[in-house]
Amino acid sequence: MSSAPAPVSRVAEEFTLRIRRYDPESGKPAYWDEHTVSLEPHRSVLEGILQARNETDGSIAIRCSCRGAICGSCGVKVNGKAGLACHTHLDHAKKSAGEDGVIEIEPLGNMPVIKDLVVDMDEVHWKKIQRVTPWLIGKEPVPEREYIVDRLSMVDVTQTMACIQCGACVGDCLSLEVDPLFVGPAALAKAYRFVGDPRDAMQAERLKDLAEDPHGIYDCTHCFKCIETCPKGVAPMNQIMRLRRRAGQDHHIEDQNNGERHESAFVTLVGKYGLLAEAEVVPRSLVADSALAKFHPKAVKEIVSTLPFLTKALLRGKVTPRTALIAHKLDSKDIREVRDIYDTIHGRDERNEFNLYISGTDEDNAENVSEEAKA
Ligand code: SF4
Ligand code: SF4
Ligand code: FES
Repeated sequence: MSSAPAPVSRVAEEFTLRIRRYDPESGKPAYWDEHTVSLEPHRSVLEGILQARNETDGSIAIRCSCRGAICGSCGVKVNGKAGLACHTHLDHAKKSAGEDGVIEIEPLGNMPVIKDLVVDMDEVHWKKIQRVTPWLIGKEPVPEREYIVDRLSMVDVTQTMACIQCGACVGDCLSLEVDPLFVGPAALAKAYRFVGDPRDAMQAERLKDLAEDPHGIYDCTHCFKCIETCPKGVAPMNQIMRLRRRAGQDHHIEDQNNGERHESAFVTLVGKYGLLAEAEVVPRSLVADSALAKFHPKAVKEIVSTLPFLTKALLRGKVTPRTALIAHKLDSKDIREVRDIYDTIHGRDERNEFNLYISGTDEDNAENVSEEAKA
């Protein structure tokens, strides 16, 4: 039985906000300043910032509009985590603050600051969205009336349609931190919106384009940050993994970045040893078939290019000659259990993707409707 929600306190409390201030035009370095605001605990961090701006310092810059998690304009970092200022309660923010209980607010990462909490999303966010052709390219011939679409296919893309382009995932993406040209979580989630739409005529072309791009689908490092960050449950990393499965398994696209071979090497190694045998990842990622018989033409160059990293790792003791050359493996009973999982998955007639964004069944809905009708 679910417990009743805690009552909402209507009594105003004091919250201290530490806001990162920076005006590039001033020529002065960034600094932090503090403002104490008095608001009911369930009010949002955005309301706190606006109160500070209205009552103590009119020069604080913040972008906002709807105040209801719809427009996507108030993305900031609260206590180091990207999110929407209007969708973060003050009491929750205080709980995740440091020992002094001060709520730290700073601009989103990976984008240049225009002023204080306002970042320039043009290069790192909007141009990437444009790059994935963010519109439907309809199949020909165009039907006289509407395209008829299978209901489940549309459920599959609904999750990506929930994106409000706030840029929070972009601001926290670890791959973007090292490669600003990475297409990024928001744009790749947008790409899945059209790749997954059965009305789109360019699915294969879109996938080939994003697989071959050195900053495309294989540039994501699976760090899960964008899933944790997204305030709308879009789970961009999951959409990127779907793009990879469609590219590799459905369209058999062998990209020039070795992304498809790298994934297949992971799957093969875990199936063979029960865990990832790192010693074999690089060579297997670079060969054209799993029997290690035929090297891809790029393999020699790629293997040579990894030698400086391997040498550094050996010198620093992160890798030993033994771990570099000999694969770790589970004992035979555990390997058998892993293989049983593989057999179950590979034994299925078709791949099943579970989209958890929409939950419940038609029957649940019918119950709700009849309850409402009784009321
Ligand atoms: S999972 Fe991939 S896309 Fe998401 S934040 Fe990490 S690196 Fe970026
Ligand atoms: S995927 Fe989520 S976090 Fe990223 S831009 Fe869209 S709504 Fe914001
Ligand atoms: S003000 Fe619109 S999403 Fe926060």
